[in-house]
Amino acid sequence: MIKGVIFDLDGVIVSTDELHYQGWKYMADTEGIYFDREINERLRGVSRMESLEIIMEKAEKPYTAEQKEALATLKNDFYKELLATKLSPADILPGVNDVLAGLKAAGVKIAIGSSSKNTPTILKQIGLDKTFDAVSDGNNITNSKPDPEVFLIAAEWLGLQPEVCLVVEDAEAGVTAALAGNMKVLAVGSAATDKRANLVAADMSMITVEQMINL
Ligand code: G6P
Ligand code: MG
Repeated sequence: MIKGVIFDLDGVIVSTDELHYQGWKYMADTEGIYFDREINERLRGVSRMESLEIIMEKAEKPYTAEQKEALATLKNDFYKELLATKLSPADILPGVNDVLAGLKAAGVKIAIGSSSKNTPTILKQIGLDKTFDAVSDGNNITNSKPDPEVFLIAAEWLGLQPEVCLVVEDAEAGVTAALAGNMKVLAVGSAATDKRANLVAADMSMITVEQMINL
């Protein structure tokens, strides 16, 4: 029986894919580095600096650590501007609000487990900043997914053992992280074909609270 559900943020609660893509595209174009949507797919669930390293595979010259920091900041400043001007509650993904309300009604604790350092900004922007019992994100971890740290901290903050927690993820690295942390996984979106998941769904409107908690 599941007592807590830990949600990844980007691609599970809210769609930020396009805004991340535009941010990285802006940085890559500024530097003359080739970048496309296929490469962007590889950045799902991956931390900001690791994302930069993936994009840098196409760079034609080496960059120092300081230059990389500056490029990550360039992307993030552009991305934050997009979050402030383009992101709204309308970007909450299908079924999410109903599932959150259903879990609360069933007495199940809910948390966020996201690699993003922009988590507080995003939650505020979509009106969910007071919804979760715990928010564990890129600001409180030292190891990114596929390391389970972000989910283990979320479970601890909910006061629950990992074994009674279900993680909802859209990224391969996130599914790996949840299983490494001894948690159950519901894989959605681009992870919905992942055979390792305990449950799969195209999106959150295709799953019931009963299916989630009776695992
Ligand atoms: C999530 C997204 C990734 C992003 C990461 C870090 O995991 O899926 O695409 O790179 O968060 O986001 P941040 O907002 O800290 O740059
Ligand atoms: Mg995600």
